[in-house]
Amino acid sequence: MKRVRKAVLPVAGLGTRVLPGTKITAKEMLNVFDRPLLSYIIAEGRAAGIEHFIFVTGRGKQSIEDYFDHHPEMEAQLEKKGKTEALAALLAELPKPGEMSFVRQMQPLGLGHAVWCARDLIAPDEPFAVMLPDMIMHAAVSPMKQAIDAHEKTGGANIVVVEPCPEGQAHQYGIVALDGQNGRLNRMTGMVEKPPKGTEPSNLFISGRYVLSADIFSLLEKTPRGAGGEIQLTDGMAELMKTQAFHALEYEGTTYDCGDRMGLLRANVAMAIAAEGDAARDVVRGLL
Ligand code: G1P
Repeated sequence: MKRVRKAVLPVAGLGTRVLPGTKITAKEMLNVFDRPLLSYIIAEGRAAGIEHFIFVTGRGKQSIEDYFDHHPEMEAQLEKKGKTEALAALLAELPKPGEMSFVRQMQPLGLGHAVWCARDLIAPDEPFAVMLPDMIMHAAVSPMKQAIDAHEKTGGANIVVVEPCPEGQAHQYGIVALDGQNGRLNRMTGMVEKPPKGTEPSNLFISGRYVLSADIFSLLEKTPRGAGGEIQLTDGMAELMKTQAFHALEYEGTTYDCGDRMGLLRANVAMAIAAEGDAARDVVRGLL
């Protein structure tokens, strides 16, 4: 079985739910406590053994590429002023040379189309990860690692990370159907993108980490437009499920949906507490 080495990160979305903050700034670069949202996703991926990150970008997203590169003037200034901690924090964010690739999704045709744009950077027999950067997943063990472990444990099945959906919100997500529920890892029997209210097959929604076989690409190429008029990854996966096993994993940890204003607020508070402990708790208590 091939090791999962690469992750595809679709970052072309406009972030309309968090406007006006995302008018000029890429939503993936919004600050969550003291670093961009994407920084948490890369850390999670690295902790899962991901060695190469493939960003599917779009217009107005150059800041992502610049963030993962040297900033010579700033580094020289910090060095000159002896600000060693700030310099170290800056350098710690840098990728190894060649650890990142960028491909452009030229039209916003949907998540399935975005993933398909990365097809030439994944080998035909290479399982790969997909990480949706809207979601910060905070856990003792990297959630992406939990998904890759599940992929290995199931002998190479496709893995979709899921979690219970808040009451009445299933129609906004991809929802899975299970072949019975026993523990956190269960075989799937179906999935549907944005089911009309009241038709969802379970209360488990697809929350943004996947391990997929490269066979998905040829199916995405033929996937017609689905929910919202977009080419949906869920529809491509449903097609792949006709010939390959899919398991849903309820990972252990907490998800913060940063594509949403209140989710972004929760993430800020939670990441500040995770980084600074009582100093951050005191600030929050003071406000309340
Ligand atoms: C996408 C996926 C959906 C998933 C969701 C998680 O939808 O298509 O299956 O549940 O992300 O945030 P989007 O948020 O792009 O509408």
